[in-house]
Amino acid sequence: MNEKVALITGSSRGLGEVLARRFWVAGYSLCLIARSEVGLNKLVSTLPENKLQKVISFVCNLDDQAQVTELTVRVRENFSALDVLINNAAIHGPMGHLSDNDFSLWRQTIQVDLFAPVFLCHSFVPWMKETGGGSIINLSGGGATGPRPYFSAYATAKAGLVRFSETLAEETKPYGIRINCIAPGAMKTALLGEILEKGAAFAGQHEFALANKVFTEGGALMENVADLALFLASDASKGITGKLISVAWDDWEHWHEHLDDLSSSDVYTLRRIVGRDRGFIWGDK
Ligand SMILES: NC(=O)c1ccc[n+]([C@@H]2O[C@H](COP(=O)([O-])OP(=O)(O)OC[C@H]3O[C@@H](n4cnc5c(N)ncnc54)[C@H](OP(=O)(O)O)[C@@H]3O)[C@@H](O)[C@H]2O)c1
Repeated sequence: MNEKVALITGSSRGLGEVLARRFWVAGYSLCLIARSEVGLNKLVSTLPENKLQKVISFVCNLDDQAQVTELTVRVRENFSALDVLINNAAIHGPMGHLSDNDFSLWRQTIQVDLFAPVFLCHSFVPWMKETGGGSIINLSGGGATGPRPYFSAYATAKAGLVRFSETLAEETKPYGIRINCIAPGAMKTALLGEILEKGAAFAGQHEFALANKVFTEGGALMENVADLALFLASDASKGITGKLISVAWDDWEHWHEHLDDLSSSDVYTLRRIVGRDRGFIWGDK
């Protein structure tokens, strides 16, 4: 049997749960990770029966490095290869002015949203190399491509994760490992609901109004995010690596027709904008 395995962090609810269900239906065996055993068990027990695939869930707090290290060992003991790694789990961390943030929560956000995904790549890339390649998908988020006031920890982690992905993509190209980031858009999940709970005084009026709009009118569809993730996991996306892809705005379905442009340019990456990019000639020496 040619088993394909996908590891998805943060699969006890929200986008991670939708990704898990879609990858299962697409024929992947699953390695599911979250803190909530109840959430993971509920997901596993409601997956359509399929004796050809296997699903194993691991309770792990990504904020605890010892648990993350232990996790990487247990994953390797239970699967013979890893085809897809999706770093989906994330927390907003502290909202509000930096000076008012509890710094231990700031640090925790960097651990969960940046160091844990980096560590999983550090552990699993050699395994992917040994087994002939793979696809890593990292979830970006608000603040990765522009300032996100009152969410400094989250924005810093997500910008770091995108730059890390671009960098590792260059290092792993020769080994058939692709690394891309997905910008999913604002989705109606617990993460966004937290902004409504905290209120405009912490999250800022702009973020509060956006979250409110998503909860009343509906937001980005998680099924569409799963479509892009499945594309990036599959051979159809061969040649696409180091990119930050927006589910809503980018015509990724047709990108395989433009592989030369994609690989020979810096489109869909994080770059510095200079004066001439905005029509200001005074900025050039
Ligand atoms: N929702 C949005 O509008 C939005 C927008 C842009 C980007 N994103 C990104 O999309 C991804 C999914 O977000 P979501 O909206 O689905 O969030 P969510 O509903 O809050 O789900 C987050 C998942 O991460 C897990 N998680 C949180 N802390 C963890 C920890 N310390 N250790 C292990 N697992 C942990 C949670 O499970 P447990 O609580 O069981 O641990 C849960 O399964 C995130 O990377 C987020 O940054 C979301």
